[in-house]
Amino acid sequence: MSASFSRRKFLGAASGLSLGALLPAKLAFPAIHTSKTARGPKGKGPMIVCSRGERWGPKVTQPGFDILSKSGKLMDAVEKSANVTELDPEDMSVGYGGIPNEECVVQLDSSIMYGPTHNCGSVASLEGIKTPCSVARLVMERTDHIMLVGPGAQRFAVMHGFQIENLLTDKARQVWLRWKENVSDKDDWLAPQEGVEKNGKRVTGTINVFGKDDQADIAGITTTSGLGFKIPGRVGDSPIIGAGLYLDNEVGAAGATGRGEEVIRTCGSFLVVEEMRRGKSPDEACKIACERIVAINKRAGVEVDFNDKYVAMNKDGEVGCYAIMGSKKNPPYVCWMDSDGFHTHAGGFLIDQG
Ligand code: GLY
Repeated sequence: MSASFSRRKFLGAASGLSLGALLPAKLAFPAIHTSKTARGPKGKGPMIVCSRGERWGPKVTQPGFDILSKSGKLMDAVEKSANVTELDPEDMSVGYGGIPNEECVVQLDSSIMYGPTHNCGSVASLEGIKTPCSVARLVMERTDHIMLVGPGAQRFAVMHGFQIENLLTDKARQVWLRWKENVSDKDDWLAPQEGVEKNGKRVTGTINVFGKDDQADIAGITTTSGLGFKIPGRVGDSPIIGAGLYLDNEVGAAGATGRGEEVIRTCGSFLVVEEMRRGKSPDEACKIACERIVAINKRAGVEVDFNDKYVAMNKDGEVGCYAIMGSKKNPPYVCWMDSDGFHTHAGGFLIDQG
């Protein structure tokens, strides 16, 4: 952490002192980009959108687009696309193979929303089930509840025929072990003397998938293994409707990735959809939600040293994205597949990481 003033220290100290007494004379906030965003690119007809670029985009969007083109079944389409990263152990931020919590247990969060009924479902802290978005779909379609968590969510999944499986891959276990052995010099866990690279990074990942059918009905999913090494039971933004996912069938869809706590306390995806309702392009709406996070932190005297990204699609098929941090080399991406093929769009960012 580069800051002379970390969020953790600030929040810890803030409990007993006035804000003015805590603020350093001059806060070194990074430069803010103020580039304008124009209307974004538009998909044609039925389409599947996801919050990734060239590497994951084609394999995520293709199965959903195939279903949408052949049967027009929107919910099956978004679910099958989101299942791709959930089932792939190479993606260490979603589903099977995700980075575990601080006790080395993989706990998954996911949400789903269907435009025509404005219905939704979600699961949080779900263990042992590789495809949490499919369980979230069942919560939406086969219960009159919206959210199931922990052992209750797992029991519900088992009742619907899901198998309990080991979600911890050897690769994720080794990442956890490296973190555990380096996280503190006051405990009894010792890293090998040589040959192991230190990795203090807290991994976040997540994926957002949206679909739009030939009636311009929309649906969306957000799915994640959440913040790496989190406290057991920690729930991020991904299963919270209005935070990690929100859509309105008359307006469009939005989803978030990155530090979930910031997205929750700004109702991020709801904000993006409401800005699109007011006529903002998806790019502009995502930018406003990123700016809101920076603004509330700045107001509290906290340096933003984390990233959040929003992706959005409006009812016309226009797509956009924006992130707090990025660089020319590594901008935020949104991608989509439509009848013209696979496309990507690089969005803007507030803080240039160089
Ligand atoms: N955005 C994912 C999480 O914070 O859990």
